[in-house]
Amino acid sequence: MPCQVIVGAFWGDEGKGKIISYLALKDNLDFCVRTGSVNAAHTVWHENKKFALHMVPAAFLNPKTRLLISAGANVHVGQFFKEVEQTQVTQTRIGIDQNASIIEEKHSDQDKASSINKGIGTTGWGVGPAVEERARRTAKLAKDIPELKPYICDQITEVNDGLDQGKKVLLEGTQGFMLSLFLSGGYPYVTSRDTSASAIASEAGVGPTRVDDVIIVYKSFITRVGGGPLPGEITKDEALKRGWFEVAAGTGRERRSALFDFELAKKNAKINGATQAAMTKLDVIFPSCKGARRFEDLPNDAKEFIKEAEKRTGVPITLIGTGPEALDIIDRRA
Ligand code: IMP
Ligand code: MG
Repeated sequence: MPCQVIVGAFWGDEGKGKIISYLALKDNLDFCVRTGSVNAAHTVWHENKKFALHMVPAAFLNPKTRLLISAGANVHVGQFFKEVEQTQVTQTRIGIDQNASIIEEKHSDQDKASSINKGIGTTGWGVGPAVEERARRTAKLAKDIPELKPYICDQITEVNDGLDQGKKVLLEGTQGFMLSLFLSGGYPYVTSRDTSASAIASEAGVGPTRVDDVIIVYKSFITRVGGGPLPGEITKDEALKRGWFEVAAGTGRERRSALFDFELAKKNAKINGATQAAMTKLDVIFPSCKGARRFEDLPNDAKEFIKEAEKRTGVPITLIGTGPEALDIIDRRA
């Protein structure tokens, strides 16, 4: 329990932000470390306010949680300050690892101008070019940016010392396993990093033996934005009819939709070493579930879907999302 990794099961947008914000409030997390970069938006709804976070960790709702941006992350300075203001997190609460790298406007220009990126349908934030520059060792680091000085910290030491003291740490994955540069098999229709649970721990400088739990986040149906194959894809008309049609929180792009894929869910749980799973948006496929907070209150078809997913993936579904609000959750953990 002290160290948990949250990993997306499919092509991102599974609802990781919601699960993380719930855990921050419910489990009183001590640390939440965000990995990845600004291309991923995590949506958090609480008390009728909506936040789409590209930089600030989704655990910000709990004022006791120390919020960190990992050493492996790419920081967009303008977006960071915008979100610090939106979320009103104080300077003492949020830190950026000294060695996180910086994503600049030129990276976004390069991303948008590149023809290969057009085929992939990148988010246009420039994360690919920023990662390239880091690999060439010409990238700027967070510690080189004067405005970031008050936020600079040693995230790796803070988190590992915290684990020594039994503190609760959540490592916040971004995007989904199917966008992994190395492991998903979807190359080149992938993002510019490894998005697996192991890579999330690695980006935060946490060794594999220190991770206690991996929570894989499934959504009750599957979505994808950008190019590349999507098994079980349905038409936009069909998605609209079913009430599944979504528009991306970050870019405003239309998401493609597909049916839940039990085989893929099982395979990805195994590769990511999932110990538990969350299933979000159950209320979208079974509207009468909306707002339910007890498993007993679910209609039979929804219960059967959860049981089938557990049987076919072999992973217990301990958290079930029944609405957009952070606390709209059925929590089946012991
Ligand atoms: P990039 O990460 O912007 O280079 O985009 C590469 C591919 O990953 C594109 O298909 C994007 O739509 C997709 N992608 C990147 N980040 C996210 C995300 O947070 N959610 C969903 N798709 C994403
Ligand atoms: Mg998203």
